[in-house]
Amino acid sequence: MKRFHVTTFGCQMNEHDSERMKGMLSSLGYSEVEQRDQADLILFNTCSIRENADNRFISHLGEAKRLKSEDPERIVGVGGCWAQSVKDEVFRRFPFVDVAFGPGQIHRLAEFLNSDSLTAQGYFEFEEFSGDLPEQRSRPFQGWLQISQGCNCVCSYCIVPSTRGREESRLPAVLVAEAERLAADGVREITLLGQNVNSYGRDLPPDEKTRFSELLRMIDSVDGIDRIRYTSPHPKDIREDVIAAHVELEALCEHIHLPLQSGSDPILKKMRRTYTRERYMDRVAMIREALPDCAITTDIIVGFPGESDEDFQQTLEVAEEVGYDGAFTFIYSPRRGTLAAEMDAQVPHPMKKERMAALIEVIQRRAHERAQRFVGRSMEVLVEGPSRNDPSRIRGRIRHNKAVNFEGTAEPGRMVEVEIGSATSQALTGSQRLLSAIGV
Ligand code: SAH
Ligand code: SF4
Ligand code: F3S
Repeated sequence: MKRFHVTTFGCQMNEHDSERMKGMLSSLGYSEVEQRDQADLILFNTCSIRENADNRFISHLGEAKRLKSEDPERIVGVGGCWAQSVKDEVFRRFPFVDVAFGPGQIHRLAEFLNSDSLTAQGYFEFEEFSGDLPEQRSRPFQGWLQISQGCNCVCSYCIVPSTRGREESRLPAVLVAEAERLAADGVREITLLGQNVNSYGRDLPPDEKTRFSELLRMIDSVDGIDRIRYTSPHPKDIREDVIAAHVELEALCEHIHLPLQSGSDPILKKMRRTYTRERYMDRVAMIREALPDCAITTDIIVGFPGESDEDFQQTLEVAEEVGYDGAFTFIYSPRRGTLAAEMDAQVPHPMKKERMAALIEVIQRRAHERAQRFVGRSMEVLVEGPSRNDPSRIRGRIRHNKAVNFEGTAEPGRMVEVEIGSATSQALTGSQRLLSAIGV
């Protein structure tokens, strides 16, 4: 039996794509191995969102080269956004790579592996949705559901529109059927994936037009799905109907990830985000009014070209004012082929680092404060496995998407009640309530 190894970089979309690659390879009779050096087929699913993503991957690729030189029968494959962004250059720069393919071409991997001549091949055209592949989930009780592919936004810093193509929504009936299949297969938590989930359905034919909030309603009514998450909404497109869905739908979790990127209007404009600080804060106010306990998280970029001290202060002010439950903070990284990479007034690296440190201070302090609202409460936790730092304890997640480390005995995939004893900006700590204590 042939053995494969996949290394995944990047976002949840890539994690899901890797599950599909694994599912497809299993159906071709391959088995997965833990170590790269045990594999006949070495695959990389790459990301190119920032320069350090590229660098991390390239160092891994060096090991694949060595393994291939030890055993030339080995096949090395490179998929994902980095592969798409450099296309055929892959073969010129890395001649030991046998096959390279973009995110829209996962299904072509099977074709390649089944072909007689293994000369280098590239698959980079955007085609039909390659999601209808059997996936091999890393956790049996959690599943991804890709509702759309691609992105029609034109954020000036972002490489994704060029690596994932135009936005295309999948039909609601197909998505409901997939959710039903996942539920029947033991999935309790579904995460809907799209680059801009709020624009879901706009591209569908008139008789299929469906709003994102309607799709949420359809998924909520699937039996067996206890938790629904989604990522990411775009602040320009999130409307009242989605907030109302959070209020009404039982399975929809109390967490909204609302990427800010910058708190300064001139920078938002240069980023082509098409909202202002005021409009963003209106969205936050709307969420807070309808869902006071809902977690709000965000993405922020520091050091975008032309970002002045004054601009950066505005970002700090928004971070202070919103009080995020958590944030992914990034140093701006120029990406090939993007508008921002050509802009004047690139911010020097030491200044970017300084701003990053100042931002992290505000984010962590506010997240720590926000997290205190959970202390003393009993929270529903979906158990994920042993705690990372202390294997004698268990780790899980509350509906607000905060990690919890606790003492208890529950198996992964179980839903338990945990009494929260303390909270930091990153995680909660507690102990599992016994069934008798909650009267079951
Ligand atoms: N479509 C999603 C996620 C995009 S990628 C969304 O719009 O929310 C995830 C995050 O990476 C972005 O939100 C942004 O904060 C960050 N990012 C994207 N391009 C970047 C770049 N060139 N430099 C630094 N951060 C970047
Ligand atoms: Fe990139 Fe903007 Fe699309 Fe997100 S919405 S993937 S940041 S272009
Ligand atoms: Fe995701 Fe990285 Fe592509 S963040 S969409 S894998 S560039």
